[in-house]
Amino acid sequence: MKRVAIVGTGSYVPVKKLTNLDLEKIIDTTDEWIYTRTGIRERRIADKNEATSDLCKIACERALKSAGIKPGKIDLIILATITPDTHCPSGANWLEAKLGCDNAVSFDITAACTGFIFALHVAEKLIFSGAYKNILVVAGEVMSRVVNWEDRESCILWGDGAGAAVLTESNMGAELRSTHIHTEGKSGGTLLMPGGGSKTTPISHESVHMKLHYLKMIEANKSFKVAVNKFAEAVKEALDYNGYSIKDVDWIIPHQANKRILQAMAEKLGFPFEKVYITIEKYGNISSASVAIALDEAVKSGSIKRDDIVVLTAFGGGLTWGSALIRW
Ligand code: UT7
Repeated sequence: MKRVAIVGTGSYVPVKKLTNLDLEKIIDTTDEWIYTRTGIRERRIADKNEATSDLCKIACERALKSAGIKPGKIDLIILATITPDTHCPSGANWLEAKLGCDNAVSFDITAACTGFIFALHVAEKLIFSGAYKNILVVAGEVMSRVVNWEDRESCILWGDGAGAAVLTESNMGAELRSTHIHTEGKSGGTLLMPGGGSKTTPISHESVHMKLHYLKMIEANKSFKVAVNKFAEAVKEALDYNGYSIKDVDWIIPHQANKRILQAMAEKLGFPFEKVYITIEKYGNISSASVAIALDEAVKSGSIKRDDIVVLTAFGGGLTWGSALIRW
């Protein structure tokens, strides 16, 4: 049986910070409301010249450096994003060129906030199949360009950034022991970008005027409850598959949707909240990139130690949800 290893991680967030106090000046909100309802204090915003592939490039270079692998050795790049530089070519194609990964094939995956876990799943299966050996899995978003800055319920949540991991077939390095992914298309209307696609609302003066190109959350407080259940279900599925109990887990690294969602998930699982890795206070929700960035920061800060059992879990638009279990 082949062993899939994570041999390097990296991440990058833009320099510019947008604090809750800054938001108080542009919408009807308060730092207190945002912090108590979400756990967010500030988020990062990409410079006007930075696209998703620019953020991903830095995250990938850091991951390649920590893996000790040259760009020419990468044979596949999978980019999870809902904010690619362009829809054609894909965000991954732009990234491939910027990284100089001239021997790689590259493509995007769209799975909203669960994107990094979907990309890990595809990479794991392709390594098992023998089709590819060294895969760069990256998740990056410039959410600030698809957020309606007049919608106070939604715009306070999102931020920009990228995270990456290098996967390879190896007996060394952290072992990716399982990945599980799920979708429920019939509930997709709750978190969506309604315009700009091939539906009845292609980009037009009218669709832009109606703000259809922005991310929309419908009844976000209902998604809140669904998210708690799906986060917890995904963790349990990973544990059952690997024959572990929640007591065996050293870290849960979740998608950073809302601190209260993560507290409720920990309570549901009977898991200490101090062992849920949190970045939401400083970055907000970076959709697909949240888990990837949190994983890299947990590794680089020394929080994750060798042999630790680490469970990644996410939930998002689609609906999508899933898990990955790693023995570090
Ligand atoms: O990453 C994918 C997964 N994420 C999600 O699915 C999102 C999950 N949902 C959430 O995180 C939360 O539902 C929100 C943070 C979006 C909202 O928090 P909430 O505790 O569910 O608030 P609510 O929607 O029940 O709204 C409570 C009140 C409303 O006022 P009234 O009707 O009670 O007078 C809102 O108008 O808070 C008001 N409100 C705000 N007030 C100040 C909504 N947004 C704001 C704001 N500042 N930014």
